Amino acid sequence: MVTETRVSQTPTEKAPEPALGTELIPKERYTSEEFMALEWERMWTKVWNIAGRVSDIPAVGDYFTTELGPESFLIVRETPDKVRAFYNVCPHRGNQIRNAGMGHAESFQCAYHFFEFNLDGSKKFVPDEDTFTQGVPQGTALVEVPCDTWGGWVWFNMNPEAEPLRDFLGVLPGHLDPYHFEEQYIVQDKTIEWDCNWKASVDAFNEVYHVQGIHPQLLESLDDIHVQIDLYERHNRYLVPFGLLSPRYQNGDEITDALQGMLRGAGIDPDGFDGTADDVRTTMQAAQRAGTEARGIDVSELNDDQMTDDYHYYLFPNITLNTHHTGVMLFRQRPHPTDPNKMYYDLQNYMRIPEGAEPPPRPPHTQHKHGDLSLGLVLDQDSYNLPRVQKGMNSRAYKGLLINYRERRIRHMHKTIDDYLFGPDR
Ligand code: FES
Ligand SMILES: [Fe+2]
Repeated sequence: MVTETRVSQTPTEKAPEPALGTELIPKERYTSEEFMALEWERMWTKVWNIAGRVSDIPAVGDYFTTELGPESFLIVRETPDKVRAFYNVCPHRGNQIRNAGMGHAESFQCAYHFFEFNLDGSKKFVPDEDTFTQGVPQGTALVEVPCDTWGGWVWFNMNPEAEPLRDFLGVLPGHLDPYHFEEQYIVQDKTIEWDCNWKASVDAFNEVYHVQGIHPQLLESLDDIHVQIDLYERHNRYLVPFGLLSPRYQNGDEITDALQGMLRGAGIDPDGFDGTADDVRTTMQAAQRAGTEARGIDVSELNDDQMTDDYHYYLFPNITLNTHHTGVMLFRQRPHPTDPNKMYYDLQNYMRIPEGAEPPPRPPHTQHKHGDLSLGLVLDQDSYNLPRVQKGMNSRAYKGLLINYRERRIRHMHKTIDDYLFGPDR
């Protein structure tokens, strides 16, 4: 008998560990306006940022805005094959060209004095042009920034000399393309204003050290100890095994309610399951693969562990991806325009659907304050502490972040921030 061995296209080997030291991470990096300004000048304006979904602008003239820190950008489909990104600002007296949101335009007319711009950003019409006795320069246009696509997202970069998006993403497309993000549909799209620095939110998702404390229920269905951490040049990841008990869980034989729920989710009746708790994960992996392929979703590029686990990626500086076999939960952490103690947390869920199936409707984007709505038990547990963390960081008593080995993705992020802030110009 020939057994087919599946070859994953997402590399699983452990990356070499860089030396990152053990010092306290100064708290001012989370609290000071000076540091915030430095981050803006040296990092945010030099990195590639996700603007939104390519599928939100299918037709020529479709556009959406995206906001980052104090800036707003207008993302436009200019031709069937070309998407452009502009600062959302009129070169006349500075009005914003479009309110936040999405829509369709044949051209962009500013709502103040009616300057009008073509979809490529060039000047189309200036009312009473002859009254500008100095002349209206031909170059009076929307200011464009580099723009590209990957994973079904439009990306932009405020640096006119930006390195190509693919160079910025480094190894990540090779890791993540097997999930086919470009074929996934957005099914949840919320923004919540959190009273913490954007990095406090990134940190909350880049370590599993907090699981035993704030998510005790997760010890019944994931292993928070045997988590492989890989730190790459800028980005990083950890691989969290799901569908098994944490070694911290007292009763190592129990097929817990959580495991039973997962079995059910994989199409297996837990009452008829005659394996042990140790067998749940492998049984689920086989069932998920068979069930997913039977629904018409090709997961042949994913390995067996990817059928159950969270391959959790951090795209520097602000994107967190909980990657699962038929969907991804994306967090985009955006800095507040003026206050280092505040941020915007964008929560988006994406789903892969069978070929030829009817796509789910695009949910409207909604905006909320912290605590106004439940994000689900786990995210409520994650977000509960963040405003207190920020308050505590501002205390005279607090000096900086004491980081353990399991939390080293946080240290790695700070090293990468330093590379931007204090290294060669990017
Ligand atoms: S500010 Fe836009 S036309 Fe005057
Ligand atoms: Fe968490």
